[in-house]
Amino acid sequence: MTDNNTLSGRVAVVTGATSGIGAATARRLVAAGASVALLGRREDRLKGLTTEIGPAAVPVAVDVADQEAVYAAAATARSALGRVDLVVANAGVMLAAPFESAQTVEWDQMIGTNLNGLLYTARAFVDDLLAAAADGRAADLVLVGSIGGHQVFPNYAVYTATKAAVAHLTRGCGWTSARAAYGSKTSSRASSAPNWEPGCSTPASARHSPGCGRP
Ligand SMILES: NC(=O)c1ccc[n+]([C@@H]2O[C@H](COP(=O)([O-])OP(=O)(O)OC[C@H]3O[C@@H](n4cnc5c(N)ncnc54)[C@H](OP(=O)(O)O)[C@@H]3O)[C@@H](O)[C@H]2O)c1
Repeated sequence: MTDNNTLSGRVAVVTGATSGIGAATARRLVAAGASVALLGRREDRLKGLTTEIGPAAVPVAVDVADQEAVYAAAATARSALGRVDLVVANAGVMLAAPFESAQTVEWDQMIGTNLNGLLYTARAFVDDLLAAAADGRAADLVLVGSIGGHQVFPNYAVYTATKAAVAHLTRGCGWTSARAAYGSKTSSRASSAPNWEPGCSTPASARHSPGCGRP
């Protein structure tokens, strides 16, 4: 039986696992004893990470902005690893531009990935999480936001708007009531939905000079 206070034996999904925070999270989860489905678009990177971290990782290439593809990826992950009880919705793009000269296709990409992709990911696995919680096991949905969801950064109005949506989604998506519904049968960690908000590092998707004057 899974100990609700450890990651050993957990079945996890990490989106945006081909680089940065997602790859690091996947490595840590496997090191702690979890098995992990690695989701992202670049299959070569997914396979490379799988080779690096071993058989507890499974590569599942997917564009999270494509709802049907996310559901198919969820089925693949489930089939390979079993019922999922930990989801890290991390995939994101951060593109900077002055609002008045921005390419709207880049807005679409950020909204499609950071918001729609996160929603599709959460929806694709929510039944697994609720079932795990109902069985008295830990179940965690981690939505990766940003300090940009609360602060203003020049040239990042649309990116930070997507992250503000993630923050509000976390408050409003009903997981509090899910926790209340299952709480009497589970540990206090079951069915949690934290919004994890990194400060700054150097995301591969960013097209700007390094530094912390950005989200
Ligand atoms: N680094 C920071 O300073 C910072 C600060 C605040 C918040 N964050 C947030 O943290 C998360 C990870 O950022 P990071 O710094 O690790 O960035 P990163 O190195 O650029 O990684 C982004 C990941 O998202 C994936 N991705 C992008 N579009 C995708 C799509 N349509 N479908 C599937 N996967 C997609 C990329 O994989 P593929 O290209 O292979 O698909 C990549 O694995 C993001 O949500 C970001 O907004 C980062």
